Amino acid sequence: MKISVSFTLWLLLGAVSPSESTDYQKTFPQDIYAALREMTASLVQLKADVMTMQREFLQTQGRQVAFSASLLVGGQAANLGPFPSPPTLVFQNVITNIGNAYNSSSGVFTAPVRGAYNFEWTVGAYGDGSHGSAAWLVRNSDQVFMAYEYQTSGFMSSSKAVTLLLKVGDVVSVHLAANTLAFDNDNHHTTFSGFLLFPM
Ligand SMILES: *[C@@H]1O[C@H](CO)[C@@H](O)[C@H](O)[C@H]1NC(C)=O
Repeated sequence: MKISVSFTLWLLLGAVSPSESTDYQKTFPQDIYAALREMTASLVQLKADVMTMQREFLQTQGRQVAFSASLLVGGQAANLGPFPSPPTLVFQNVITNIGNAYNSSSGVFTAPVRGAYNFEWTVGAYGDGSHGSAAWLVRNSDQVFMAYEYQTSGFMSSSKAVTLLLKVGDVVSVHLAANTLAFDNDNHHTTFSGFLLFPM
C-alpha cells in the first residue's frame, strides 16, 4: 500500500514540469522532500518485508522430512505374534531418516512441522492356517487404516498408504493388529516409510 502511494507521487512529480506552473515551482521543494521521506519509509518497510519472507522461506526449506525403515537389521529373522493386544512395531533397520523425526528405539514418528504427510507400510508373514497378518497405522491413539492379508499357508504380504494432516508433535506409528502375525528377515518384508509432502 505504502509502496504504491509513493510510486504514484513519484509519477506525479515526474509528469509536472516546473515551467508549467509558477505556483507549483514554489511548493516543489516541499513536495519532493515529502516524497523522499515517504519513499524512505516505504523502502524501510520493503526491506523488513523481504527479510520476513526470507526467514519464512528458510524455515520451510529447513523442514525436510523423509524416513524409511524395515523391522529387523540385516542378519536377523523373526516371527512376531500372535499377541492379544496390538504392540507397536519398532522398525529398527533405518535406511533413511532425514530430519530425524522417526525414532528407531520406539518406532514412533513425531511431526516436526504442521503439514501433509504421506505414510506407507507393508507387513509380511507366513500363513499358519489360523491367523492373518495385519498392521494398523496409528495417529496419536487413533487407528487410521489397516493393511490386512490372510492365507492358510505360504508367504503373504499386505501394504497400505495414507496421507495425513498432522500438527506439530502428532505421533504416528504402525501397530501389529491383535492376534495377527508379522515376519521379517534379510529380505526386509515388513517396512514403514513416510515423508512430508508440504508444510501447511
Ligand atoms: C526415542 O525413543 C526412546 C524410547 O522410547 C526414548 O527413550 C528416546 O528419548 C527417544 N529419542 C528421542 C530423540 O526422542
